[in-house]
Amino acid sequence: MSITVRELHAVEILDSRARPTLVVTLETEGGLSVRAGVPAGASTGSREAVERRDGDPKRYSGQGVLGAAGAVNDEILDALAGRSFDDLAALDEALISLDGTENKSRLGANAIVGVSMAAARAFAATAGIALWRSFAGSLSAPRLPAPHFNLINGGRHASNQLEFQEFMLAPLGAPSVADAARAGSEVYAALRKLLLGRNLSVGLGDEGGFAPEIARPEEVLRLLVEAITLAGYRPGPDGVAIAIDAASSEFYREGSYDVAGETLSADEMINRYEEIVESFPVWLLEDGLAESDWDGWERLTARLGDRVELVGDDIFCTNPAIISHAISCKVANASLIKVNQIGTVTETLEAMRICHEAGYAQFVSHRSGETEDTFIADLAVGTGCGHMKSGAPARGERVAKYNRLIEIEDAEHLPYGLGRSLT
Ligand code: PGA
Ligand code: ZN
Repeated sequence: MSITVRELHAVEILDSRARPTLVVTLETEGGLSVRAGVPAGASTGSREAVERRDGDPKRYSGQGVLGAAGAVNDEILDALAGRSFDDLAALDEALISLDGTENKSRLGANAIVGVSMAAARAFAATAGIALWRSFAGSLSAPRLPAPHFNLINGGRHASNQLEFQEFMLAPLGAPSVADAARAGSEVYAALRKLLLGRNLSVGLGDEGGFAPEIARPEEVLRLLVEAITLAGYRPGPDGVAIAIDAASSEFYREGSYDVAGETLSADEMINRYEEIVESFPVWLLEDGLAESDWDGWERLTARLGDRVELVGDDIFCTNPAIISHAISCKVANASLIKVNQIGTVTETLEAMRICHEAGYAQFVSHRSGETEDTFIADLAVGTGCGHMKSGAPARGERVAKYNRLIEIEDAEHLPYGLGRSLT
């Protein structure tokens, strides 16, 4: 079913980190009005589509997005207004060719992705279906993803000494999203109690997880296992497992990794990860090595790829060409999926399709800078990718996505979880 664009309007609003971002409203000739909030990251891959910021030091320390808003309100509106598009791929193609750059730097990936997300909603609403249904069919059958709750924040998302960025709780063995949310909430509460009992801070990082002064990843993992047990759950893939996003590009310096006061080579990092997965119920490791350390990634994949889901985030940037190359080099066995990293919904779906066909998993993700927009919940359900991360089970911009999953589950009896067994 086609849509004809009547109006587009972008406004500079605030994201969850008090930085400016965009909300884009799209109106169709059919009288529909839909909107999309644009996410933004902090630990960004160097090959991500380029977010356009004003650079005016007098406003928001240069972070303003008035230029990107202007691109939507002037040039993109002029190019799209009155035009009919048969599908989202055609509209996204118009945006890509209007921008004309390899990395969407002219109009700005933040401008383009806001229009693309709003347009996806417009196509679904015009067809009279929920957004998630509009993604169904091309990949795996729709299912409710296992939420991955980020309980401990470090790296660029917190001011503590912890280098690893995210320690996530993965209720893989829960029977439903509602039960997974309950596990996330109960373990979060148990963890808070344990931290207070040790006189550690329960202040929060950017994604709503606690940010205590702990440096060693193993110490965090011990605490998490204790919290899972204290809350009455079984640690492990048939109960509540753990996932790590090391975001290691951020602590990679001159060919080595700086972790908790030690300087480690790629091979020493791989050994450390092997010890971690043998000692703790860690089932997924994201960005274990740096985006520029492809040789290390090949060895990491050869060593742990049959036991652990190895997710490429900064190294892949949701970019179909980079992912295809990685598949041919046997680098990682999964890709993180962030819509704003590549800049259009169509290219995101293409990245997911390439993964799917090669047997690479897809892990749909929010950004550290978020709005209350719930787009990724529908994307994860419709594509049947099996798992999604949206931060802690706390703070409105994080729980909005999890709550959307609960509402989809309430309306539709879809299967829950990964939909595959872990080796
Ligand atoms: P970012 O972090 O949104 O700050 O880039 C999220 C991640 O690394 O997965
Ligand atoms: Zn990451």
